[in-house]
Amino acid sequence: MKTRSILIVALTLVFAMSASAQLAKTNLGAHNIGGTNGCKSCHAPHNGSVATGLTDQSTGKILLWDRAISQVVYGTYTSPTMKNPVTEIGGTTLPTNTDDRIYSLLCMSCHDATITPSIAIGATKNIGSGDAATSSYGLRNDHPVNMAHNATLQPTLNADTIVTSGTDALALFGANKTVQCASCHEPHNNTNGDFLRIANTNGTALCLKCHK
Ligand code: HEC
Ligand code: HEC
Ligand code: HEC
Ligand code: HEC
Repeated sequence: MKTRSILIVALTLVFAMSASAQLAKTNLGAHNIGGTNGCKSCHAPHNGSVATGLTDQSTGKILLWDRAISQVVYGTYTSPTMKNPVTEIGGTTLPTNTDDRIYSLLCMSCHDATITPSIAIGATKNIGSGDAATSSYGLRNDHPVNMAHNATLQPTLNADTIVTSGTDALALFGANKTVQCASCHEPHNNTNGDFLRIANTNGTALCLKCHK
């Protein structure tokens, strides 16, 4: 009986812990655009972006997206030691609603110098990611996205099951377990700062969840 109640306590604890790994959509922070647009800063509950005065009804097929989908070619990071090949996230072939790359491309509908230079990602925020006009390096000098997290191909990675479990779980997308912007970031909750899924304690905790 005693062992059983210890087991129940332990299990409850495990469930409580795994529940806390998922951040609630309760702290939109700077993502509450204009201070009042709330969820509609990014999602349109009906009719794609037409619902809010834009023209493309089809954008709503992709997570009810309320913005234009970027068609810029961002480029891809590569190096002699990279084992999981990176695939371009942008380009004129628009994603389907089941493409893994939507978990990166949707971020770029704002964090892209072609749209709003002041919030573009990059060492200097005004140097535009993917902005051909400013000759920037696009996504070639950023942590790679849109590649599989395959620890068999790259043995210095932790197994994907380690990445996606525990109180510090990160997200991998699709059957190929791909890394996307939303692997490290949770756009709905700024509790950890920089919309990170987990606190990057000592500047290493986030990185070491995936890299050994
Ligand atoms: C800054 C843009 C932005 C805002 C504001 C935003 N979302 Fe999202 N939402 C996204 C992106 C990007 C994704 C896909 C990446 C992901 O799932 O984290 C997403 C995914 C989702 C999903 C599907 C995946 C999941 O996490 O369940 C739901 C449901 C959702 N959002 C609901 C909401 C609600 C409710 C609000 C308001 C409280 C909201 N969103 C506000 C950008 C936003
Ligand atoms: C609707 C446009 C929009 C979308 C879509 C969007 N963001 Fe943002 N994001 C913003 C704005 C505006 C800020 C505030 C920038 C500022 O104040 O400098 C911001 C801030 C951030 C910050 C904090 C850094 C800072 O400069 O304050 C991070 C990190 C971030 N966004 C990541 C993401 C990621 C990752 C996604 C996709 C999962 C995403 N965002 C989608 C508009 C957006
Ligand atoms: C491997 C994890 C990881 C991935 C993948 C990732 N980020 Fe980040 N991002 C971080 C960390 C950690 C920070 C905070 C440290 C910093 O500012 O460089 C950050 C900071 C940011 C910031 C605020 C600082 C700045 O440079 O303006 C924005 C905006 C942002 N990320 C957007 C994105 C977008 C968009 C993508 C996808 C193209 C992405 N991130 C992919 C880990 C990641
Ligand atoms: C969600 C998992 C994940 C997180 C978190 C993550 N990475 Fe990565 N990172 C990867 C994957 C997968 C690759 C591709 C590795 C390969 O195939 O060789 C990669 C590649 C890299 C590379 C390029 C390696 C090369 O051989 O050229 C560097 C450098 C890197 N990551 C650093 C970081 C840093 C620093 C952080 C923390 C800010 C971080 N990563 C967080 C998954 C992640």
